[in-house]
Amino acid sequence: VDADGTVHVDLTARSGSTPFVDGTETPTLGYNGSYLGPTIKVHRDEHFAPCLTNELSEVTTLHWHGMHLPAAADGGPHQPVEPGQQWCPEWTIDQPAATLWYHPHPHEETERQVGLGLAGMLQIEDDVEAALPLPRDYGVDDVPVVIQDARFSDEGEFQKTQDFVGTLGDTLLVNGTIGPYFEATTNVVRLRILNASPARVYDFAFDDDREFAMIASGGGLLEKPAQLDHIRLSPAERAEILVKLEPGETVTLRSNPPNLGESFQPITGSAGHDDRFDVLQLRAASELDHVGEIPETLTTIEPLDPADAVGERSFTLNGHNINDKQMKMDRIDAVATVNTTEIWNVLNEMPAPHNFHVHDVQFQVLSVDGMPPSPELAGWKDTIYLEPDVQYRIIMEFTDYADGDNPYMFHCHLLRHEDAGMMGQFLVM
Ligand code: C2O
Ligand code: CU
Ligand code: CU
Repeated sequence: VDADGTVHVDLTARSGSTPFVDGTETPTLGYNGSYLGPTIKVHRDEHFAPCLTNELSEVTTLHWHGMHLPAAADGGPHQPVEPGQQWCPEWTIDQPAATLWYHPHPHEETERQVGLGLAGMLQIEDDVEAALPLPRDYGVDDVPVVIQDARFSDEGEFQKTQDFVGTLGDTLLVNGTIGPYFEATTNVVRLRILNASPARVYDFAFDDDREFAMIASGGGLLEKPAQLDHIRLSPAERAEILVKLEPGETVTLRSNPPNLGESFQPITGSAGHDDRFDVLQLRAASELDHVGEIPETLTTIEPLDPADAVGERSFTLNGHNINDKQMKMDRIDAVATVNTTEIWNVLNEMPAPHNFHVHDVQFQVLSVDGMPPSPELAGWKDTIYLEPDVQYRIIMEFTDYADGDNPYMFHCHLLRHEDAGMMGQFLVM
């Protein structure tokens, strides 16, 4: 932080190697280190000035997933950073406390670069969250859980698989570690779960099926904690959960086969829908510090009013297309007017998993198949899983930044689909 309050963060994308399995070096990419990137913390109203230096031998970009920001700072495919070059956008953070992330977004190369390790978590803090009795001691009772699946070749290299949905691994990496455990010293632990996997949809639950409190979706706090015993997260989705621990116990966060929707049709040997994984073992110390109870209310979310919407759009996902079109760098698919509200109707017509992500905004879910959203979908979101043949009606407001030249993206966040063109571009002007 410099004298005028600007937060500077330097990220250098570089290649290296990481000894994941038995000391065998796996070629990897990372920000500042050899795999993944540092967790960045910023506060609402701070001026943020990150700089990316590209020390790779290929073009990359740096996208701020979930961030409300000027289109030229978004870091999508229109902001390429050539090898040896630097890219330094800046903007003022203006959105609620939330767990976001950053990752490359180069045209048609996103799955490979993210899969090799270019990803990191970004946490926004604000006064509303700070006033709540929540665990927020980083690495002590507030733990980032960045989940990726990988498959290693005999030589220790990451292997890309040919599955329709994208690369599916047989090994989980949590914060870049296989088979991790966390030694808890408090009676409540906050896990910030990020599905940073290229294609896999998870259904997280504890091995003893205990309940936990979901306190935030990707865009920030829920109005009140949702008591759940499992949560499905598709690629790029985040959830913050609070789990209570008893002294001396061990409990394991697992991933069970997800319900991908009634019309989902499993292809034998594909889509990984039968896979189960241990994700993270929590080992509670024999004496635990008391860090508080789970609050009954968290924040207030003003519902966006459908009556304020200036229009509706429909997006249908099929093949590798959205509305029968594949992404074209020089085609704008939608133009929104700054400071207006729109309703988007999103439908996955295929019996296969897809999700939907919108840049720049956090949206609210108006309905799922005509019904009000379930508690875990009732907060701010930027990415949502699309059960096949189910209509998702979402509402969003485009504020602050008008730019007639630089588009934002909307796309499926199964990265192979995104790379294959299941993406479109919108301007806000
Ligand atoms: Cu996580 Cu278009 O991005
Ligand atoms: Cu994004
Ligand atoms: Cu998809």
